[in-house]
Amino acid sequence: MRTLIFATNNQHKLEEVQAIIGSDFLLKSLNDIGCSDDIPETGDTFEENASQKSHFIYERYTLDCFADDSGLEIECLNNEPGVYSARYSGSRDTEGNMHLVLEKLKNQTNRKARFRTVISLILNGKEHLFEGFVHGTITTQQSGNKGFGYDPIFQPDGYNITFADMSADEKNKISHRGRAMQNLLKFLHDQQLK
Ligand code: IMP
Repeated sequence: MRTLIFATNNQHKLEEVQAIIGSDFLLKSLNDIGCSDDIPETGDTFEENASQKSHFIYERYTLDCFADDSGLEIECLNNEPGVYSARYSGSRDTEGNMHLVLEKLKNQTNRKARFRTVISLILNGKEHLFEGFVHGTITTQQSGNKGFGYDPIFQPDGYNITFADMSADEKNKISHRGRAMQNLLKFLHDQQLK
């Protein structure tokens, strides 16, 4: 079984990605390889941040690895919060971040938004990028208690519940990270067939 390092210590993300990747690959987190560095994420785009993280790990450990960077893009806010999603209100406080979004959209009729993920994989020293989107709308109030981040205020197109109302399985099938991971998995399987 092939081992892959996922450059994260976010337990929610690790579980989501492990569920998607199944038993074909052994996934290890930063904790698992004893990496406690604060990996820099100073880019202006998801691509730059994902790439910065995967290169940081590869340069230190020379192991096949991947890193992701995701965020929420809201159409009427010129795609904010984007790469600033984790600290939109000035801190990592999830409630504060959601509150700020709802406040900014208070009198807005266009509530279209999307989540986007970019994954940078370094396999045998070569970088490959993958992307995933999910389109939806920002609700007027929070609903649900599953998931993390902006899940309670994001309703994916075609559903009348938020990400936070969904089971992890249901979310994984349609989420930005799920779709980017499916693209990554397809690539890995194609590589093994070569
Ligand atoms: P990350 O790059 O995946 O760590 O995501 C950065 C930030 O975007 C997170 O801290 C969340 O605020 C937001 N975010 C990313 N993915 C999701 C998701 O699946 N649900 C809700 N919020 C998310």
